[in-house]
Amino acid sequence: MQLNTGEDSAESYLWSHCAMNFPNSLIESLCAAKKIVALTGAGISAESGLATFRDAQTGLWSKFKPEELATADAFQRDPKFVQDWYAWRRENALKAEPNAGHLVIAEMEKRAPEFLLVTQNVDGLHGRAGSRRMVELHGNIHRFRCFDNDCTSANFDVENGRCRSCGGNLRPDVVWFGEMLPADALEKATAAAETCDVFFSIGTSSIVYPAADLWRRAKNCGAIVIEINKDPTPLTPLADYSFLGKSGEILPALMAAVGSAMEKRHN
Ligand code: APR
Repeated sequence: MQLNTGEDSAESYLWSHCAMNFPNSLIESLCAAKKIVALTGAGISAESGLATFRDAQTGLWSKFKPEELATADAFQRDPKFVQDWYAWRRENALKAEPNAGHLVIAEMEKRAPEFLLVTQNVDGLHGRAGSRRMVELHGNIHRFRCFDNDCTSANFDVENGRCRSCGGNLRPDVVWFGEMLPADALEKATAAAETCDVFFSIGTSSIVYPAADLWRRAKNCGAIVIEINKDPTPLTPLADYSFLGKSGEILPALMAAVGSAMEKRHN
């Protein structure tokens, strides 16, 4: 695991997993934080056994073509093919269990004075881990919408992929390439990023916009930006603190370090 501090971002240090020490400045900032925002991506669910999108060997986009599965045009061309792919992903998500990273984020929500989780994930694992103050920027794979008429009745025959009101096809309630994010979700995420003291970017390649812009908004407004990611991203050299490793290992260690610093303060 490598640590890259903003104080000296040219230099990086090798940290061993057994001696996961964190800089005092980071722990101080976390103890003092009034408002924390955490942005997550597919990497946080990797340790639950769910594939990310862009990992070279295992990522979904190394095996499937997004233009055949994650666009409205693709659905129009072959609804059944797209529905089946999402049904497979839904099944995998339901079989998976939240991991330590999801659980620490749910715990952070309880401990921080103000907290918002902004996730790009559609798998529902954050909710199952107990997160409540949450914005799902890209929707949720376990919900559906009427593709043909966007019927508000929500009278759906999920098993057969049909809207009972108009007979149209059901699509997953996720944001596909070329589509706008839900306006209220994006507004809430942006407002929170611009008013937080600490912004976490966890398990995301930081290349899909507008989510990839949130850390910059936070930083421009004075927040400390902390990245936790298995591989370097465009954010890595620019973050105040960047930890290269698994979120399911780094987050619990960081939470424990903050917990013991808080305890010392109270004693
Ligand atoms: N811990 C932390 N990070 C991890 C782990 C892990 N255990 N495993 C993988 N990662 C990192 C990878 O190194 C990668 O940088 O998580 C990142 C996942 O990146 P992507 O696959 O690009 O996923 P994400 O950033 O969520 O993608 C954004 O793109 O296709 C769309 O809509 C889809 O919401 C998705 C969006």
